[in-house]
Amino acid sequence: MLSVHNLVKEFDGLTAVSDLSFTVEPETITGLIGPNGAGKTTTFNMITGHVKPSYGSIHFDGQDITNLRPHQAFHLGIVRTFQIPRPFSGMTVLENLTMVPGNQIGENVWNNWLRRSKVENEELRIQRKAHELLEFLNLSDLNNEFSGNLSGGQLKLLELGRALMSDPKLILLDEPAAGVNPTLLEEIIERIREIHRQGVTFLIIEHNMELVMRLCSSVLVMAEGGILMEGSPEEIRSDPRLIDAFLGGSTSSSDT
Ligand SMILES: Nc1ncnc2c1ncn2[C@@H]1O[C@H](COP(=O)(O)OP(=O)(O)OP(=O)(O)O)[C@@H](O)[C@H]1O
Ligand SMILES: [Mg+2]
Repeated sequence: MLSVHNLVKEFDGLTAVSDLSFTVEPETITGLIGPNGAGKTTTFNMITGHVKPSYGSIHFDGQDITNLRPHQAFHLGIVRTFQIPRPFSGMTVLENLTMVPGNQIGENVWNNWLRRSKVENEELRIQRKAHELLEFLNLSDLNNEFSGNLSGGQLKLLELGRALMSDPKLILLDEPAAGVNPTLLEEIIERIREIHRQGVTFLIIEHNMELVMRLCSSVLVMAEGGILMEGSPEEIRSDPRLIDAFLGGSTSSSDT
């Protein structure tokens, strides 16, 4: 479903990602782990069009998406969450979901005039979907709360909700468990499982090994910009290279 070939990203002399190749099979949950600064978020940024690769190529569903803009990747069905959630703080939880671009017919004046009932139907559909998703994520009590007042864990769920508004094919989650308490972690694991059962493919960056072990069918380990190894969670866990990677010199400054 997703394949990355010889991907490189250089930032002013610093090589964040070097000669990275991997594939993600459809309808799987793949983990992407590795020490701070390994290049995981940069890899996401290239897949979603937020950062332009220096070299290499990315294919999705058989299509070359290497130099697409974020909204183009989004319209192909690739959505993501950010390591640091980016809610629209001045808006309520509900508005954060209904704001997500879809094929928003209502934005065009002509459409408003000519196709009023269609626009109304579309708005109703979006409202209904947002309510359903917030219920699914157990956030319904917070529908009218400003998202700026949410806890870190609740923001992670809100980001997941926003990602789901557009019926994506591939969801990239950047540390969904970071700053999340154990109860909410259970919640997040369960929700990801349920969404996966609907046929959605996941690529998940995570430092929380419990989440990785419980959810992922295969794990990619990145170190210093490349793939160090890949395998099942069990294979990865018992491989001494994993410990080396986390203890060996690649703990860099990135805490973004
Ligand atoms: N926009 C940028 N400009 C310059 N350097 C960057 C930029 N983005 C990332 N880097 C650098 O690239 C390297 C990889 O960063 P990246 O954020 O991809 O790591 P990561 O694996 O996600 O780490 P973490 O687990 O800490 O989130 C780091 O050295 C980081 O400082
Ligand atoms: Mg990161």
